Amino acid sequence: MSEQKDRFVLGIETSCDETAASIVKNGEEIVANVVASQIESHKRFGGVVPEIASRNHVEQVTIVLEEVMAQANMSFKDVNAIAVTEGPGLVGALLIGVNAAKALSFAHQIPLVGVHHIAGHIYANQLVGKLLFPCLALVASGGHTELVLMKEHGSFEVIGETLDDAAGEAYDKVARTMGLPYPGGPHIDRLAHEGEPTIKLPRAWLEEGSYHFSFSGLKSAVINTLHNASQKGETIAPEDLAASFQESVIEVLVGKTLKAAEAYGVKQVVLAGGVAANKGLREALTSAFVKLPEVNVTIPPLSLCTDNAAMIAAAGTIAFEKGIRGDMAMNGQPGLPLASYE
Ligand code: KG4
Ligand code: ZN
Repeated sequence: MSEQKDRFVLGIETSCDETAASIVKNGEEIVANVVASQIESHKRFGGVVPEIASRNHVEQVTIVLEEVMAQANMSFKDVNAIAVTEGPGLVGALLIGVNAAKALSFAHQIPLVGVHHIAGHIYANQLVGKLLFPCLALVASGGHTELVLMKEHGSFEVIGETLDDAAGEAYDKVARTMGLPYPGGPHIDRLAHEGEPTIKLPRAWLEEGSYHFSFSGLKSAVINTLHNASQKGETIAPEDLAASFQESVIEVLVGKTLKAAEAYGVKQVVLAGGVAANKGLREALTSAFVKLPEVNVTIPPLSLCTDNAAMIAAAGTIAFEKGIRGDMAMNGQPGLPLASYE
């Protein structure tokens, strides 16, 4: 029997404020990984400005692609597939990556594969080790907060999602109210470790047995706490407010993940999305699962939690193997739903 040849997939990600390209071998091993962050360009506006994001992607995409090929020491004839984030995200930003991928696919006759951004975040974990099924993913990013059940590779069932704000969005909005720079998540995380959770804030458990989330009430409670204090001329220690907010977010995220893991009898829980970089969440998730030792808990390294293209290449490899193909009609899809590869 002949041995299966190695497969090299080029991943491209431009859905928000990172222009990224990566080459991944067999869906598991990073050969080269380049991320050009635009955070500095958006900081002074306190959030991502879509027009600026698109312009930066146009300027960066060719440079990032040249750099990744040089880093990998490969030419396009060695690339078996090109995987690109098709959605969700900012339409103008997505289009830059999609068009770059289509141009390369056409010019070099390489198969094209569209990837859902959240599938990418989940598959960042496949770069840590092989996924074990059934697998439960806690996805928490700037645009998403979801619990996704995976019975096998490429199968995604959303069993719970946020009814309003995403966890990262709540972090960024609360940080903004507290006068912290964009993106606020890492700043709140840092402050939270210097304070005590002394301020009483709500936890949105929703109805019994629900795996959905809601963070807008918590966000409003923090904003009200700050306004009430300033009206009374009182000051609130920012570290304590950060610690209290973070405790509320983490308790609900971890509590619901634990319940779902038990209910669905999963073998593995993986953490995904930008908020997975949160130190408090990483610690809390690991300690909560001490009571379910049969469940493997995987948390990607920080560089694979925030947006990157290695995760897109990893998810793209599975999609490619399942026969998913894009064509020259591929478009950026801002509201793309997470669908299984079948
Ligand atoms: O996945 P990501 O890079 O982009 C999206 O797909 O949305 O996530 C970005 C989000 C931002 O809201 C950012 O504040 C949050 O992830 N984030 C964090 C931390 N690092 C990044 N939130 C909490 N704690 C962190 N350490
Ligand atoms: Zn993301």
